[in-house]
Amino acid sequence: MTMARSRRSPVTVPAVSTVPGAGARDGGARGAGVRPGGWTRTSLLGLEGLSAEELRVLLHRARAYTGGPDSVLEPEASAPLRGRFVATLFFEDSTRTRLSFAVAAQRLGAQVIDLAVASSSVNKGETITDTATNVNAMGVDAMVVRHRASGAAVIVDRAVGALADPARRRGPACTVVNAGDGRHEHPTQGLLDAYTIAEAHQRLETFDLSGLRVAIVGDVISSRVARSDIAALTALGAEVVCVGPPALVPPAIASLGCAVAHDLDAVLPGVDAVQVLRIQFERHDDGEARRPEGGGGAGGTGEARRTAASAREFRECFGLSEARAARMRPGAIVMHPGPINRGLEMDAAVADGPRSAVLRQVGHGVAIRMAVLELCIGARGPGA
Ligand code: NCD
Repeated sequence: MTMARSRRSPVTVPAVSTVPGAGARDGGARGAGVRPGGWTRTSLLGLEGLSAEELRVLLHRARAYTGGPDSVLEPEASAPLRGRFVATLFFEDSTRTRLSFAVAAQRLGAQVIDLAVASSSVNKGETITDTATNVNAMGVDAMVVRHRASGAAVIVDRAVGALADPARRRGPACTVVNAGDGRHEHPTQGLLDAYTIAEAHQRLETFDLSGLRVAIVGDVISSRVARSDIAALTALGAEVVCVGPPALVPPAIASLGCAVAHDLDAVLPGVDAVQVLRIQFERHDDGEARRPEGGGGAGGTGEARRTAASAREFRECFGLSEARAARMRPGAIVMHPGPINRGLEMDAAVADGPRSAVLRQVGHGVAIRMAVLELCIGARGPGA
């Protein structure tokens, strides 16, 4: 199949950042770095290592796609990704992330092709790198990847990057966007969480979160969301404290740049936002659970986690009940990446209550993904 490259609109990247001295950085992506005038990364694999300036380029672009508190607008000009193809490869379950990437890509004018993993050659034993390099060979412009293995998106990005060799008629490497890989990172979630906090605390002009304190509560050890949140929020100036039982929030988590606490009732009255994490039962026993992560040594035994995550004990000590939420500061918000275990980590009345920014997070996810796809695909250049 030959894709209609001639119909493609050139992707114009807005000049919203001037970063003196910023060069290639260790963000784990091909084409890393911000140069004065714009964004130059062709893939987004994680937020760790991105500068505040790079994060702000994405957040400001996302802001251009939101139309006030309740709406996500159409792109202001003609669809900048018209004629482009975005492939979604979800090797793990998803509702919000998968659909919002599809909505984002289509709002930009791109066509979305979705790999139905359950009926694909994955079932015949095909490796993720073979799947990815074959999809890249079809000439897609971007691949959005979710996988249960930490590091999967980096492996895919390296594989398509290594095989791209125009001199050997292999064509260019597509953009790779990590939509969640094991316990590693979930960069678009981290960005939409930062956006939601900035909006709630009137920081949309600057995306400077200095002076704000954010608690991340619960199953931090299993959470890719926590890692991306910590990277984004601390880079933007916020203070982050992870709260939970020691088995789910071990001391080594502090190596990610946050504080660690085990008493939610002591922490809650002092925060401006709380991100409550789902207890990720499915990640507790998948073998990776025993691997130290998060700066090394942040592991713990599966048995300890099972004990700590026992529903009743957890709810009593760390569940965000109505009574606990009522003790938060005026203006402080409650967030959750979803899906919510109502009645376990968060009460239904809190999830649906006046402090809840949960559905605002979801709405911002579309604008964030529009910005990420537009800027990363745009960074590949008009000929790619
Ligand atoms: C998260 C995920 O899948 O990483 N959800 C999401 O993408 N909105 C969090 C979770 O699974 O608990």
